[in-house]
Amino acid sequence: MQRHLISAADLSRDDAVLILDTAEEMARVADRPIKKLPTLRGRTVVNLFFEDSTRTRISFEAAEKRLSADVINFTAKGSSVSKGESLKDTAQTLAAMGVDAVVIRHGASGAPYRLANSGWIDATVINAGDGTHQHPTQALLDAFTMRRRLVGRDAGLGQDLSGRRITVVGDVLHSRVARSNVDLLHTLGAEVTLVAPPTLLPVGVESWPCEVSYDLDATLPKSDAVMMLRVQRERMHAAFFPTEREYSRRYGLDSDRMARMPEHAIVMHPGPMVRGMEITAAVADSERCTAVEQVANGVSIRMAVLYLLLGGSETALTQARTTEEK
Ligand code: NCD
Repeated sequence: MQRHLISAADLSRDDAVLILDTAEEMARVADRPIKKLPTLRGRTVVNLFFEDSTRTRISFEAAEKRLSADVINFTAKGSSVSKGESLKDTAQTLAAMGVDAVVIRHGASGAPYRLANSGWIDATVINAGDGTHQHPTQALLDAFTMRRRLVGRDAGLGQDLSGRRITVVGDVLHSRVARSNVDLLHTLGAEVTLVAPPTLLPVGVESWPCEVSYDLDATLPKSDAVMMLRVQRERMHAAFFPTEREYSRRYGLDSDRMARMPEHAIVMHPGPMVRGMEITAAVADSERCTAVEQVANGVSIRMAVLYLLLGGSETALTQARTTEEK
């Protein structure tokens, strides 16, 4: 394992499987009445959020607290960033306070890489989403959800996602979730198909390790999981499709379309969902949609990542296991 987690593309198959397996251990802790491990006692983790977030921010905080870390939350709104302070000065301020890890979300692609390699701060850096670039812990929690649902909770241990067919639908152009998923799912042996209108596919997508299709109805029957993406209006500075109605009709998932999926296939969404746009309320609330499960799995994945990157002691996990077995 490397010291930082900047991109899903940096993970080897073995790293990724180790994180998924460790997350299964962490999930057992979440099932216990006292959901806490002493692993990161005395370590300080800062959550540095320059962009809006609900799920990612809260689940990192829950993960850090369950590992007994001291947690500092920083949001750009209400900080000196709105007075014009640079990332460098913010980083140096944190360094002066003796921080062990920084979880960063930033609107600029590359900001976490810069933080990790600038020398401004000597801390482990975890990317919680940078611009349209990467969101590696999201891809990991998605892979964890797929492995549990498609391979099995116990049967999945040590396994990857070889041969599973995953379809990712929607605004791929602006989506760090799509990029991270394509990288990680490819590493884990899955076959990925992207479905989007041509205007919402990035230049150079042909060189990505996946297939591309414009026809959702043809792809659904061949999918083990269908991941719907939100149309990211906040990153759009032009018109990418004629009307919302037109977009929903061609690329939205409704009950009729869901019925074309194989019986075992699941519907995924990283959130936030825009009901009525990329997904109907009936599909979002159906048994087959794992959106809420993905959030719960996010805490286990983030605990695993923090544990592995900050070099938590092996004994903490072993202790958790033996107490549980008693
Ligand atoms: C995504 C993000 O912020 O990249 N959400 C998330 O982290 N769960 C996707 C989105 O905003 O649509």
